[in-house]
Amino acid sequence: MEMLKVDLGTRSYNICIGAGILPDLGRLLKNLLVGKRVLVITNPNVRRLYGEIVENSLADAGHIVVVGEMGDGEQFKTMATAERLYDLAYESGLDRHSPVVALGGGVVGDTAGYVAATYLRGIPLIQVPTTLLAQVDSGVGGKVAVNHPRGKNIIGVFYQPRLVLADVSLLKTLPQRELRSGLAEVIKYGVIWSEEFFGWLEENLEMLLAGDASSLIHVVRESCRIKAKVVEADETEGGLRAILNFGHTVGHAVEALTGYKKYTHGEAVGIGMVVAARLARSLGLLGVSELARIEGLVCRAGLPHQLPDYLSTKEIVESLSHDKKVVGGKLTFVLPGQIGKVEIRRDLSKEILFDFLKV
Ligand code: NAD
Ligand code: GLY
Repeated sequence: MEMLKVDLGTRSYNICIGAGILPDLGRLLKNLLVGKRVLVITNPNVRRLYGEIVENSLADAGHIVVVGEMGDGEQFKTMATAERLYDLAYESGLDRHSPVVALGGGVVGDTAGYVAATYLRGIPLIQVPTTLLAQVDSGVGGKVAVNHPRGKNIIGVFYQPRLVLADVSLLKTLPQRELRSGLAEVIKYGVIWSEEFFGWLEENLEMLLAGDASSLIHVVRESCRIKAKVVEADETEGGLRAILNFGHTVGHAVEALTGYKKYTHGEAVGIGMVVAARLARSLGLLGVSELARIEGLVCRAGLPHQLPDYLSTKEIVESLSHDKKVVGGKLTFVLPGQIGKVEIRRDLSKEILFDFLKV
């Protein structure tokens, strides 16, 4: 098992990465000196696959395990779900030392994280991400949230986990579509931070799609290493952390305009990254061959890379204007200047975007 430290002073924690390490969860919790009672939050699908391993591992380490299920899907990442889980936490007698174990993808991780962050003003959170997207992104870094009927992730806080356990062997049961979606966030790290990692992905994509464990471990390690560096420098997104939103400005608009049903989060980010790279090209920031490499890798990963033609330029620009990061009518875009280096642009008006998108 490999350990990667996220260095945040008193809020530091380890990310444990490996294949077949899920049964070690109970043992790893021992080092954290958390309470006996544990609330495992998961969904029926993930529980069926991995619930027993987790429950046995925790029970063998002397824990009393309570399992709280939430529905499977983005539509369950809500305050109503959180309230049900608070009820369960209360009825089960959780105290301030009782950990919450988030066992699932980003939907479970974000919701369980929000519950842990707010119950009794914060109880220990353990992330056990089970999708590639959650292992490389949402399980690490401390953004936790639930959705509001008016917008995604509107109700949330920064709350770091005490431990992250990423077992790539869990990805064997992940549908191909979800594996490909996770690759969108992986490609993102190459574009924003490391040309070398991007090149490695170009060389090893087929191995990854075939589920090769050592390739997956490499990808989770490198992605988490990059995310940790960014989060260590800017935990609460005062500046640098915004680079992690590369592809997300347009991605979020696509998700919202298609009712969070047509595209997974990663697929929408795939479209968003290509649009941002093309925008960077049109502003003269990115070279032709580098744009082609970004488009090429997104395509090869089997991700969509075009805005759906039934969405009008007007509605896309309108949706972008409701982005959380709009300030003074100016949109925020993370744009690559080369592979491995991006800049945060906060000076792009709706008009510039409209002219760019309509051609
Ligand atoms: P998800 O949580 O909906 O999981 C996708 C599907 O895979 C679900 O049906 C789930 O039951 C299933 N699944 C999970 N693990 C499995 C496994 N090992 N085998 C088989 N099936 C499995 O989707 P996701 O892509 O993991 O997460 C998307 C969410 O993450 C969104 O809500 C997004 O906003 C959030 N997110 C948060 C952050 C953050 O920093 N907090 C970053 C990126 C995305
Ligand atoms: N997923 C973006 C962030 O963690 O900041």
